[in-house]
Amino acid sequence: QFGPLHAVRGEILHFLADPAAHGARAVAHFPDGLLVIRDGRVAECGPAAELLPKLSAALPVTDYRGKLILPGFVDTHIHYAQTDIIASYGEQLLAWLEKYTFPTERRFADPEHAAAVAEFFCDELLKNGTTTALAFATVHPASVDALFGAARERRMRLIAGKVLMDRNCPDFLRDTAETGYMESKALIERWHGCERLLYAVTPRFAPTSTPAQMQLAGQLFAEHPGVYLQSHVAENRGEIEWVAQLYPKARSYLDVYDGFGQLGARAVYAHCIWLDDEDRRRMADTGTAMSFCPTSNLFLGSGLFDPGRARELGVRVGIGTDVGAGTSFSMLQTLGEAYKVLQLGGQKLSAESAFHLATLGGAHSLDLDGLIGNFLPGKEADFVVLDLQATPLLARRMASCETLSERLFVLMMLGDDRCVAATHVLGAPAYRAGPAAR
Ligand code: GUN
Ligand code: ZN
Repeated sequence: QFGPLHAVRGEILHFLADPAAHGARAVAHFPDGLLVIRDGRVAECGPAAELLPKLSAALPVTDYRGKLILPGFVDTHIHYAQTDIIASYGEQLLAWLEKYTFPTERRFADPEHAAAVAEFFCDELLKNGTTTALAFATVHPASVDALFGAARERRMRLIAGKVLMDRNCPDFLRDTAETGYMESKALIERWHGCERLLYAVTPRFAPTSTPAQMQLAGQLFAEHPGVYLQSHVAENRGEIEWVAQLYPKARSYLDVYDGFGQLGARAVYAHCIWLDDEDRRRMADTGTAMSFCPTSNLFLGSGLFDPGRARELGVRVGIGTDVGAGTSFSMLQTLGEAYKVLQLGGQKLSAESAFHLATLGGAHSLDLDGLIGNFLPGKEADFVVLDLQATPLLARRMASCETLSERLFVLMMLGDDRCVAATHVLGAPAYRAGPAAR
């Protein structure tokens, strides 16, 4: 049924551009649509009534009528090793790292533990409709092998890297500038470009790397064209004061990374809450992306990200769950919380902008929009099939919606993994909800 050429039929929505900039022209919506897949890539996408007569009657078609098909979600910031500390009580960033994060990351010295968590993590992403993520592993190189191994089995497009951390952390999680460099280099050679997997140089954040390690992280990023760099910036006030003490010569927290060659296309920074416009302009000029992590920023009491200002200054923005500081793997819940964060800042997040952010916008922020993010011919056919009637409340509320925008908005405010009926990777089903999920 999922041979070289097949199709799925249902309501289809995808984005051709940013709806905030291009309005209705950015949105492609087919109430009865057909997505034709050849060898795991999109062959065609359009109204079923137009496409079906042109195709062989023998073409296998999976019938998802009554459900909504969207491109697979893109989570631009997440920590797989923090799966087991999601929802840990009572602390802000720095104390939360000491109390919960470092002890749980210590367990990834054991490759069997790493493999078990990696399997659960990838399954949980798929269960939530997320087919691509930019993920932190831990300081242990084998933790990266475990994650890439699990993602490869599921054929997911995943970007990940070994944490670089050579100071201000427990001994059991510390590398050195040299070992961190050598181990990262070996992992890049082993994994970057292996099938759909890509590597990210991963300095945890400026406080846990010496200037020597920061310099080598920038060097790794420069020496391997196509490789990513991920880190955290301007998340928490206490963190920012600490960075100012550790790097007194830098103009700002972001400027620390800039000074070590860590900005550019394919560099992605989580949080970006306490930046000024000079920082934002520098990110825009260098093509550096921001990952907006609303559930995490609220959970740790970090602050309110300003997407409006990022957009005005032309910075690329994606959305991230940031599990385990984030409180949900669900991109729907994450979009719902993003809406509330914008409300607190007197801004609006339309449902179209929200779903663009979770698909094509996220892909663009990761420089992957040539490969994923929508259903243009040639793209990799990763998609999620959503049941907008998954719960009695959703069904009841949907019944009074008149427009697509209203339905999408209700979906992002009330939806979660119960709405995911199936997730397909390269055309083939990678997750299907059981009857128990209904
Ligand atoms: N800053 C440095 N490390 C972390 C982390 O693991 N989570 C979050 N939210 N912020 C960080
Ligand atoms: Zn994070």
